[in-house]
Amino acid sequence: MRITINQIKGMKQKGEKITMLTSYDYSTAKIVDEIGIPLILVGDSLGMVVLGYETPIPVTMEIMLHHTKAVVRGTKQAMIIGDMPFMTYHTNVDDALKNAARFIQEAGAQAIKLEGGVTVAEKVRRIVECGIPVMGHIGLTPQSIHQFGGFKVQGRSPEAAVKMLKDAQALEEAGAFAVVLETVPTPLATLISQKISIPTIGIGAGVGCDGQVQVINDILGSYTDFVPKHAKQYAKLADIMSSAITEYYNEVKAGTFPTAKQSFSMDESILAELK
Ligand code: KIV
Repeated sequence: MRITINQIKGMKQKGEKITMLTSYDYSTAKIVDEIGIPLILVGDSLGMVVLGYETPIPVTMEIMLHHTKAVVRGTKQAMIIGDMPFMTYHTNVDDALKNAARFIQEAGAQAIKLEGGVTVAEKVRRIVECGIPVMGHIGLTPQSIHQFGGFKVQGRSPEAAVKMLKDAQALEEAGAFAVVLETVPTPLATLISQKISIPTIGIGAGVGCDGQVQVINDILGSYTDFVPKHAKQYAKLADIMSSAITEYYNEVKAGTFPTAKQSFSMDESILAELK
């Protein structure tokens, strides 16, 4: 049985920190799941860290479904959250509902995430009414990067801080089971976490959030274009990969790979006949 939204909400009530991590493929998701991370997000950040785009905007429903299916196949206990791509929930409630349903019905996810607060509250309400758990996402919402004019800290002015609190409350009222706070000053994220009853999951939002989410390539050091300020590199996978691949390259060139251990024999008499 996979983790449920009630267990996640219960963790906030008990003061137990919630861990969430992105995954985009079968093998990585399997490792994350076996560790016991309860929430796995198939984030549209895959547009950048897997597909090499500059923003998540080019990511489509088909791409997201393809990766979500792989993550679902690799996991047993985690709740898999599919990230609704740009413009798949903005136009109207019907589109939002149909696309959310595809994550659940076609890809096997247990929940979806979408960006926005007050402006998407009606869509969140309708999706939840139809039985699909929704995670909100406010603060620096990468699908609006051109509107923000870059990856900037959000909620620093009094008006922006009030708006962010209202967005969080609108998501809670609409029935979201949790909300991501991205690139938000720590005191504001802490206040929002205290003011709403659903868990807040921070990324660049400080330790006062109920949980934390990171892009897995950032914490493993496998994405080298840039390291966001909010990310801590627990490994330098790019360096490890580079030295392993260099060793492979050198051994192939030198004729020292493969050895007998990686090779297959056959009956000598058959070989003699062929000759
Ligand atoms: O796409 C993503 O990975 C996300 C997280 C950074 C929250 O939205």
